[in-house]
Amino acid sequence: MSSVAKKILVASTNPGKIAELRAMLGSDVRWAGLAEFEGIGEIEEDGDTFAENARKKALGYAGATGLWTIADDSGLVIDALGGDPGVKSARFSGEKRKGEDRTLIDHRNIARVLELLKGVPEEKRTAKFVCRLCLAEPDGILLETEGTLQGLITEKEIGENGFGYDPIFFVPGLNKTVAQLTAEEKNAISHRGNAIRELKPLLDKLLCEII
Ligand code: IMP
Repeated sequence: MSSVAKKILVASTNPGKIAELRAMLGSDVRWAGLAEFEGIGEIEEDGDTFAENARKKALGYAGATGLWTIADDSGLVIDALGGDPGVKSARFSGEKRKGEDRTLIDHRNIARVLELLKGVPEEKRTAKFVCRLCLAEPDGILLETEGTLQGLITEKEIGENGFGYDPIFFVPGLNKTVAQLTAEEKNAISHRGNAIRELKPLLDKLLCEII
């Protein structure tokens, strides 16, 4: 490891996401967020896959800042819906309406999923959460990992924790929905936790090689 720690940009303005990566990937890195780069603009997530979106954001922000950049894209994939909501997870029931906050949008999205799955029996309600991570430098991709969490879509919302589709995502091994888990319990099994845990040894190796 060189004496000056490598600076890595997290392609997010969400302080929670940056803190999570810092906590899980270690302190031998100087972590930065998009908030440090005023006027940097937003890169549209218009790819057909989680991988495409993560790559586009990582390469775009790495190019704009000259920094190594980590970007993620995640969402819910439901087998009976042909993989929907997939990359459209955040906007499955339409774009944000005036005055609407994230919780309201999440409820709308959940309502749409439950409506589409009406009458679908339990054994066909299989689904997974997917998180794709990409680390890039301005010239190209350095690392990519993917984490998943398998489960079943319930028939109604259960639990108060988490966000997004957590209240309708049942984890058979725990006999609970993700919204019934604490943040620590969720992190230990989640798609995002799994993708970050897979990235950790690869990043450590890469950082050692650039002495
Ligand atoms: P993002 O790529 O992390 O912004 O996630 C996109 C969308 O996928 C979110 O707005 C949620 O609807 C859904 N999603 C991603 N991860 C989770 C999760 O851990 N729980 C519930 N919903 C999720």
